[in-house]
Amino acid sequence: MTSATAETTAQLQYMQKGGPFKIVHVPKPTLAPGEVLIRQRVIAFNLVDVKQRDLGVLVPRWPHVLGIEGAGIIESVGSDVRDLQPGDEVAGVQGGGAHDVSWGGAFQERVAVPAPFVAKKPKNISLKEAASLPVGFITAVSAIVNSLKIPLPFLHGTSTEGQPPSSILVLGGSSATGAAAIQLLRKAYPSLPILATSSAKHHARLNDLGATSVVDYKSPSVVADIKATSPGAAGVDVIIDCVSAGASQTDISDVLDSARSKSYAAIITSVPVPVPEGVNKLDVSGWSIVDMQGGMQLIPSLTKLVEEGTYRVPLPVRVVGHGLEELPNVLDEVKSVSGEKVVVTL
Ligand SMILES: NC(=O)c1ccc[n+]([C@@H]2O[C@H](COP(=O)([O-])OP(=O)(O)OC[C@H]3O[C@@H](n4cnc5c(N)ncnc54)[C@H](OP(=O)(O)O)[C@@H]3O)[C@@H](O)[C@H]2O)c1
Repeated sequence: MTSATAETTAQLQYMQKGGPFKIVHVPKPTLAPGEVLIRQRVIAFNLVDVKQRDLGVLVPRWPHVLGIEGAGIIESVGSDVRDLQPGDEVAGVQGGGAHDVSWGGAFQERVAVPAPFVAKKPKNISLKEAASLPVGFITAVSAIVNSLKIPLPFLHGTSTEGQPPSSILVLGGSSATGAAAIQLLRKAYPSLPILATSSAKHHARLNDLGATSVVDYKSPSVVADIKATSPGAAGVDVIIDCVSAGASQTDISDVLDSARSKSYAAIITSVPVPVPEGVNKLDVSGWSIVDMQGGMQLIPSLTKLVEEGTYRVPLPVRVVGHGLEELPNVLDEVKSVSGEKVVVTL
């Protein structure tokens, strides 16, 4: 480990794909005019982190500071930043593919992030809960508004072109993205049939977030079970696959109503999801908010959405460790999460 000074900050650097890693002290970032410097207090894990580490996904070069989501306290702001100031508690998207990561992602003591990728912590939730919000939210909005052209009119400034489906199925309802998608759709469409899959222990929670019915994806009759709960038992109009469920459940597209549009939006996970001919496959990336109408207001808007009760923390949050040193030992916990978000505190 290199030694710390007042002018330096600690990073967990992975030296090459798969490791090894070490904690390195580097000069504090020089902020671009539109950036803020966050003193990290919480790092939230995402399966993307493991794919970055093991497969090099979205890693421009090694050594690299991984991590895409976290929360902390603003230490300084660039000259163009107006709505945020030192001392503000914030959460944000801190890496991935949405913005420049020349100073690295979330796995460090201090991270520089463009201001539009940051939301002030809503007053009614903890900083740990706030850290769990932005990535799932933008990924769900990208799937619904950007890929499927289903408007969410309460997200002011986003496109209102397109129509709601007659029914929708969320595969992976207990994932961070799935739980976000269910509640966004329910808020916009009070009577839309929203079906979901998860293991049985999460059904009540997903009903509470707005799912009309939830089916156990481990059931041998999952396709028939979903169809049976769809309107008129005819199947659904649209699927959002948050967890590449279609890669193992290869007959899942049979739940699409043959008389309807048959769209299948799949969150990009690095696992290919084949769909049958005649199904309109849409690949979803959360980072597409940068090109979306109103996309740059989405993350900052989370503060008000949560404070007014329009959007809820989708999943319970569990602390699995403390400190940058601990982080590599506990990162693999994200591979086995079930209906929760795991975080490390700093
Ligand atoms: N491209 C992008 O922009 C982007 C952004 C964010 C995430 N991602 C990727 O998207 C995926 C989802 O991320 P996330 O953070 O939302 O997931 P997550 O919270 O880590 O997902 C965990 C959940 O997946 C559920 N699950 C696993 N297999 C399932 C299946 N066959 N059917 C139904 N549910 C299943 C589990 O359900 P039970 O506990 O109920 O069994 C568990 O609760 C990850 O692969 C991630 O890497 C991509």
